[in-house]
Amino acid sequence: MLINRRPRRNRQSAAIRDMVQETHLSVSDLILPLFVMEGQNARSEVASMPGIHRLSTDLLLDEIQECMDLGVRAFDLFPNLPESKKDKYATESYNPDGLYLQTVRAVRDRFPDAVIMTDVAMDPYSSDGHDGIVENGKILNDPTLEVLGKMALAQAQAGASIVGPSDMMDGRVGYIRQVLDEGGFHDVAIMAYTAKYASAFYGPFRDALDSAPKFGDKKTYQMNPANSREALIEAQLDFAEGADFLMVKPALAYLDIIKLLNDNYDLPIAAYNVSGEYAMIKAAAQNGWLDGERAMLEALMSIKRAGAKVILTYFAKEVANIL
Ligand code: PBG
Repeated sequence: MLINRRPRRNRQSAAIRDMVQETHLSVSDLILPLFVMEGQNARSEVASMPGIHRLSTDLLLDEIQECMDLGVRAFDLFPNLPESKKDKYATESYNPDGLYLQTVRAVRDRFPDAVIMTDVAMDPYSSDGHDGIVENGKILNDPTLEVLGKMALAQAQAGASIVGPSDMMDGRVGYIRQVLDEGGFHDVAIMAYTAKYASAFYGPFRDALDSAPKFGDKKTYQMNPANSREALIEAQLDFAEGADFLMVKPALAYLDIIKLLNDNYDLPIAAYNVSGEYAMIKAAAQNGWLDGERAMLEALMSIKRAGAKVILTYFAKEVANIL
């Protein structure tokens, strides 16, 4: 047979395959999201996320130590709060003596070199379970910015390296940038949740934090999964407002959006491999329906291949154990 081009030649041994491999996963790309809860020596597994636990601060510090030893050096923290700490204005979010900010300080004290990302959004602290202030069933944009500004500033004061506004209010990146700069926190970066879609894949996360909206949905602020041009508008705004990273969320059903932003912007693109994406792979693996480890690595590789430089993933520790 005369076949001029034989792509299989470059696949014939592991050494050749490794040599021509275009994309690589590396532990330094990964950010591990962690859930903190009240108490001491307390842990509770998230039912819909096998292997992922809410941890009290002391155990969270131990977990971070283990991850640091494996080379994972970036963490994104989220609080699980009892209903009694929630109110309409998320005031607990900037209480310096509250669980979250105390934990951020504890992590910063013990791990001066860690990248600590904090989440800027009202939902874990909101009695309405929404990311903004609710009035007559509407989510108010501009008054919410003031809460987000206070929250971001308090997080910077507690030692955050990167603040991550995950709320999708208009104008929040610029507003937070200004508040941080006025507070002297020029070095605190903003990872904007740029293209955050109103997704079914956040379900397990809302279980983890007991943060599901008490009424309605998040479609007036999170994006319609049908849209990609709109992601460019969001990216344009976040870039202009001073974001240091542009994030796409979720990741796997939005690989085209990751590529779109990576093709059009020179900032590092991040992708959030969300709770539901984690749960799908874990559930199938637990049933013996697929090889969980291979599926995990393939999924993460596809996110990198699409153009994400940084991946937020609940798999970070597991990956670090393999790589
Ligand atoms: C909300 C927020 C959500 C996630 C991170 N921040 C869920 C939501 O918008 O309801 C989801 C993360 C995940 O599913 O892993 N500010």
